[in-house]
Order: sequence, then C-alpha cells, then structure tokens
Amino acid sequence: MRNQLKVIGILVFIVTLLTAATDKLLDNYLFKVPANFPKPSYAFANNPITKEGFELGRKLFYDPILSSDNIISCGFCHNQPAAFTHHGHDLSHGIEDRLGKRNAPPIQNLAWTNRFMWDGGVFDLDLQPIVPITSPDEMGETLPQVLKKLNASKDYPILFKNAFGVSTITTDYLMKALSQFMNGLVSANSKYDQVIRQEGAEFTEEEAAGYKVFKSYCASCHQEPLFTNNQFANNGMPMNQNDLGRYEITLLQEDKYLFKIPSLRNIMLTAPYMHDGSINSIDDVIQHYRLNMQTTTNLDNRFLKNGQIERVPLSDIEAKNLKHFLQTLTDTIFIHNPMFSEQ
Ligand code: HEC
Ligand code: HEC
Repeated sequence: MRNQLKVIGILVFIVTLLTAATDKLLDNYLFKVPANFPKPSYAFANNPITKEGFELGRKLFYDPILSSDNIISCGFCHNQPAAFTHHGHDLSHGIEDRLGKRNAPPIQNLAWTNRFMWDGGVFDLDLQPIVPITSPDEMGETLPQVLKKLNASKDYPILFKNAFGVSTITTDYLMKALSQFMNGLVSANSKYDQVIRQEGAEFTEEEAAGYKVFKSYCASCHQEPLFTNNQFANNGMPMNQNDLGRYEITLLQEDKYLFKIPSLRNIMLTAPYMHDGSINSIDDVIQHYRLNMQTTTNLDNRFLKNGQIERVPLSDIEAKNLKHFLQTLTDTIFIHNPMFSEQ
C-alpha cells in the first residue's frame, strides 16, 4: 500500500513537472493563452513556438515559392486585413486563376481546433498545408518539387538549420514551421474580449441587447469564447450537389450537407460568407436565419419544431442589435499586428 502511494506520488510529481514545462512553452511573447480562452488542443510539446520557427513560418506563408508557378503564396488567399480570408472572393482563385469550390476561411485561433476545412477533412494542423500546396486549384505543386526548390535556395537551408537544427529541409519541418506561424495567429482583443475580461470596455445598450439575442439563438453552435463549438451542422443553406460537405469525408448519410460551424470572430471583415461564399453581407446572413433558411436534408434540430422548419424569429430591432453585437467581435489589433505581416 505504502509503495503504491509512493508510486502515485512520483507520478503526480512528474505530471506536475510536465504540465509546468508545457505551460512555459505556451507562455512567451509569441503565444499566450488569453485569460478568457480554454487550453489549446494543438500538441505544442511536439512543436513549441520559437522566434526562429515562427519567423521562418511567416516567410514561407508569404512566399510564392510553395506554388508551381511561383506566383501564389498562402497569403495570396489568406489576407491579414480580412482576418486572413480572401476578401471579396466568393470562391478562392489559385494558380492560372483556377477557381476552387470553397470560400477561404480565416486563419485565427487554430491552436484551439483539430478540425480543419469546411468538411473537417484535415485533423492535424501539421498536415493541413499539404492540401493547398498540392491541390491543382490552389498552388498546384508537388512536395518533392517544393523541397527541391527550398533546399536549393540561398536562405532557406540556413533558416531551417537555425529553427530546427536540421541540415536538410523535409516535409515534416516545412509543416512545423508553417504551424508555428499559424498557431501564433491568435485573435483575442476584440471589444467583446475587453468587456468579458473586464478591461474597462463596456457594451452599449444595443450591443448588450444583441448579446442576449446571440445567446438565445446563435451561441449553442457559435459557442463562446471561440465562437464555434468545433462541430458540424446544416444551417439551411440551399443544397448544391457539387459540395456534400462532411459526407465527402465520412460517407455517412447523416453528414450530408453538414459544414464546419465557423467562428464568428472578425466576422465583419470576412465577407463573403458560408462555405460557398454565396452570402455577401452580414445583413443578408441575418436575413438567411430569419427568412431564407431552406428545408434541407439534415437541417439541424435547432431549426425544427415538430418536424417542421422554424426560422429564427427575430424582430427588426433584435436583428439590428444582433448586428451591433457581431461588430464587437472585430479585433483591429490582430489585423494590424506587424508580427503577422509580410516583412
Ligand atoms: C487559392 C487560394 C488558397 C491558397 C493559395 C491557400 N489557401 Fe488555405 N484555404 C483556402 C480555401 C478555399 C480553404 C477551405 C478549403 C476547404 O474547406 O475545403 C482553405 C483552408 C485553409 C485552412 C483551414 C482553416 C480552417 O479553419 O479550417 C488553413 C489552416 C489554411 N487554408 C492554410 C493555408 C496555408 C498554410 C497555405 C499555403 C501553404 C494556404 N492555406 C494556401 C484557400 C487557399
Ligand atoms: C445549428 C447550428 C447553428 C446555429 C444555431 C447558428 N449557426 Fe451560423 N452557421 C452554422 C453553420 C454550419 C455555418 C456554415 C454553413 C455553410 O457554410 O454552409 C454557419 C455560418 C454562419 C455565418 C457565416 C460565417 C462565415 O465565416 O462564412 C454567420 C455570420 C453565422 N453563421 C451567424 C449566425 C448567427 C448570427 C446565428 C444566430 C441567429 C447563427 N449563425 C446560428 C451553424 C449555426
């Protein structure tokens, strides 16, 4: 018995040490967990953010060397002033101006999710960039070719050596560097955050009323503080045979037309909206929930009553206040942070 207690004591001690070590990794000027956020899900122990790794990731993110025509960079479709979306483009344009079938989502707070893409087809941030690099509609390149270009370049071998101590650039380290930069893209300084963290900001009457509306009708899916519960749902957008959503990954009937519930942080900056970019303004999104939602295969239960569609019953005033609240989710510090910009 005494020995068992000893073993347990030692285990507790080791776990405490490990937790302290990880917390240290998570608390430097490049990455800090905001006071109102939960613990991140990214495995930082395998790829802690360092200055060299973050800066290398940033250089790669803005470098068209990752594409086959050496014209398209990640930053081409993920623009900082639009919270790293492709502002003004409903579907993203890639090499040779080829059109993809989906709208580019923001890159923010990715350390808190393990579901990437509108269909959740990628579950690890360290694997995610393989998709755009090799997709014929995006960067149209092959990994061996990218590695060849990077290894032959003047700067990159030195930069990878400084960041990771390696003398050959491999896919693994390319992905780790991009992840370090993307994990650093934390957006948690909107007015909403300043109110919640009691940093001296206060909601106006309209915003406070809109927050109530939001909590009644939107928050179960767009859950605080990340404004997504990281699940998939169908919100009554018109069905399109070209994109079956989550079903394309799982082949389960109940996943047909389900899409990732997107975060609403910085939502005023990221028009157009939805997986296909088919809604142009926030007013039209609110009208979608009030009036235009369709009876679809797998429409979420929260929009059904006795098997019949029940759209969100907002008065004009409530709709207006809801928009005021959504405006408090804009983080201007994030979109102007020079650490995140092309250098
Ligand atoms: C041609 C435009 C384009 C380029 C170039 C591009 N992306 Fe994307 N990105 C998209 C689109 C569109 C999606 C959504 C795809 C989907 O859901 O199927 C996306 C999704 C993502 C996501 C998932 C975000 C989330 O919340 O699910 C990440 C991360 C990402 N891109 C990072 C990158 C990186 C890193 C690069 C460069 C290696 C890159 N992108 C290049 C258009 C682009
Ligand atoms: C049942 C879950 C659910 C509820 C409740 C819900 N949404 Fe959504 N929302 C979604 C899903 C899923 C999408 C993505 C749908 C798509 O792309 O086809 C979405 C997309 C959006 C978008 C577009 C985001 C982007 O980046 O393109 C906005 C804005 C939005 N919702 C606002 C709201 C508001 C405001 C409410 C409350 C009136 C609300 N949602 C209620 C599930 C929900």
